[in-house]
Amino acid sequence: MSGEEAPTQQQEEPEQVKKADDPPPPPPPAADTSEPESSPAAVEQQQQQQEEKKKEEQQQEEEKLLSSRALVLTGYGGYEKLKLQVKTMKPPRLQPGEVMVRLRACGLNFAELLGKQGLYELLPAPPVVMGMEGSGVVEAVAEDVKDRKVGDRVIAVNRCDMWQELVVLPAKRTYPMPEGMSFEEAAAIPINYLTAYMMLFEMANLRPGKSVLIHMAAGGVGTAATQLCQTVQDVTVFGTASASKHETISQGGVTHPIDYRTKDYVAEIRKISPKGVDIVLDPLGGSDTHKGYNLLKPLGMLIAFGAANCVTGQKKNLLAVAKTWYHQLSLNTLKLMQHNKAISGFHLGYITDEELYDGTIFKLLELYKQGKIKPRIDSCYHFEEVADAMKRMHERQNIGKVILLPEPKKSEEKPKSNAEAAENEEKNATAAVSEKKDEAAEEVKAEKD
Ligand SMILES: NC(=O)c1ccc[n+]([C@@H]2O[C@H](COP(=O)([O-])OP(=O)(O)OC[C@H]3O[C@@H](n4cnc5c(N)ncnc54)[C@H](OP(=O)(O)O)[C@@H]3O)[C@@H](O)[C@H]2O)c1
Repeated sequence: MSGEEAPTQQQEEPEQVKKADDPPPPPPPAADTSEPESSPAAVEQQQQQQEEKKKEEQQQEEEKLLSSRALVLTGYGGYEKLKLQVKTMKPPRLQPGEVMVRLRACGLNFAELLGKQGLYELLPAPPVVMGMEGSGVVEAVAEDVKDRKVGDRVIAVNRCDMWQELVVLPAKRTYPMPEGMSFEEAAAIPINYLTAYMMLFEMANLRPGKSVLIHMAAGGVGTAATQLCQTVQDVTVFGTASASKHETISQGGVTHPIDYRTKDYVAEIRKISPKGVDIVLDPLGGSDTHKGYNLLKPLGMLIAFGAANCVTGQKKNLLAVAKTWYHQLSLNTLKLMQHNKAISGFHLGYITDEELYDGTIFKLLELYKQGKIKPRIDSCYHFEEVADAMKRMHERQNIGKVILLPEPKKSEEKPKSNAEAAENEEKNATAAVSEKKDEAAEEVKAEKD
């Protein structure tokens, strides 16, 4: 209906004319203040009350919701593929045997550098939360769990999923932290020390008087292996590392630090020990495995446990991957017999024997309590700084373990790494520029290759 039509349709009622002899109107009924049940006002009031109740319930429900920060790998590639997400969730219903742990520190491993590039076969496809180790406080336990309780400080391990604030996992994948151990130390123990311990003692049967070549000697596994070598009398450690780290690793127990970036480490070792070494721990792969094998003394053992040579920067370098695999050492058993040498492979991710796994962790915690091992923490980064943490490893700057902290960074917080403090001022000023340069250089290099 148009506005113009309206007046014509509004017919006014004719005015009522009051006559003189009409009876007076009946008195109005006494005012009834109570509204009848079904009156519109009562219905409105009822609705209001229901809405308020609903809101209250909703609020109570929201108060029960948990929030958890998580680092999610959203695809393979550079640092930008890692996103910090905040999940809001109802308190999880724990399955029998499970606990929920609020993590306070998580370990960064070389495996995650590989995983981000799609080179770690045990990592499920993205989107996925990476991280294989952490430490924190038990926040909830399933009814049947009797050996863990709320408030326990624990070390926790899992195949992945550990780079988040709240993690639900089987109680048997948690281990009580010894008194005095910091959360950072606890997160630095499992992967590095289990790997080093099992290789040195279960496989290579390290004994007094032996010599060991440890590559990446200043890294996480490297410092763990060096410390474990110190638990056996009279072991000589040859350790390759960037030159700036030599003083620190010498103090940590490396007998002969070698700068593999400017020197031929094979020649350097032969100068000191013409017969070679008894044990080679090889995390590099490719041509370095050949060198390591040739360096073995008769009855010596090389343990292949990594392929770091595949990695040259934050993004996948297919040429480096191809080169490393092309140069993999391949021998037949007849040759091994003739050479009187052993080659062994180690991958912690495929150790499924729980007794062996747990037994080794308990041995390591005992060594910690005795003061024989102590994780060296290189630096700690909050989740939002994960790119800086990974960059530190890619740029070969870390001495010891790099740790990730789930709690948000406070704006006034000082840097926690020894070296970082000095570097930070300069780094902050040039970070944006240099990151762009790095990426450009990497892309140019990949294209050239
Ligand atoms: N098989 C297993 O179960 C297992 C378990 C844990 C670790 N690993 C392997 O052990 C090795 C060490 O792991 P991690 O977690 O302890 O790491 P990490 O040693 O802390 O790694 C970083 C350090 O490695 C050295 N490095 C040598 N080649 C490198 C490269 N291509 N890119 C970056 N850094 C390189 C650098 O120090 P320098 O320049 O000073 O040497 C760097 O500071 C890795 O190969 C890893 O895959 C294997």
